[in-house]
Amino acid sequence: MSAARDFLRALGEENAAFWTDRDVRLDAAAPPAVRLEQIRYRMRQGVYNELRSVELIAAWIPHVPEREIRDLLPGQLDDEHRHYHLLRRRLLDLGEDPDAYRPLPDWEALFDWLVACRARPTLQKLAMFQFAGETQSCEGFETLIALAADVDPETAALYRTAILPDERRHAAIGRRALTLLCDTPGAQAAARAACREMNERVFGAYRAHRARVDARFPG
Ligand SMILES: [Fe+2]
Ligand SMILES: [Fe+2]
Repeated sequence: MSAARDFLRALGEENAAFWTDRDVRLDAAAPPAVRLEQIRYRMRQGVYNELRSVELIAAWIPHVPEREIRDLLPGQLDDEHRHYHLLRRRLLDLGEDPDAYRPLPDWEALFDWLVACRARPTLQKLAMFQFAGETQSCEGFETLIALAADVDPETAALYRTAILPDERRHAAIGRRALTLLCDTPGAQAAARAACREMNERVFGAYRAHRARVDARFPG
């Protein structure tokens, strides 16, 4: 078990190194009006992403035979469903129609791929979404909360109090699964490859995401 913990620490550091300066969705140096638009775009896309997270967890649960890990997933499904409603409600309160938003094809492709990964071994699935993906999500939410504090404090408070604590728990599910399952060099290699695959795909979605927001502010 302690070998698995050492491996996890190293893998977590590798993932963090990958993400240095790569979450391009928000620009801390942007003028407040542009920053607010970047945040609003994150929320619109976030409604979609939370709903697709519900779908993907539901698709995966029947394909997670390890009972100790499977038992953690319905709670995550509930959380993502609640986040969907919270973000949707917040956009409605801001006068937006969240159902009119057209999701970015790159995010659609990412979630389609994750759902299609349902039959992969638990180790790979949870390395991708909970361990790599949700850990990066937490970092992303921390950045969003910091950058929203002056331009949209109510939204910052929503993310800080009602979303981020749940996402931290989801990342912990990933750590728990990998601690249990990464007990051989082969399993560790598979987890590392799954993280790399996920990180590359998410980075692709982030770049497309930023390009679409920048297109709203040409020049
Ligand atoms: Fe969520
Ligand atoms: Fe989550």
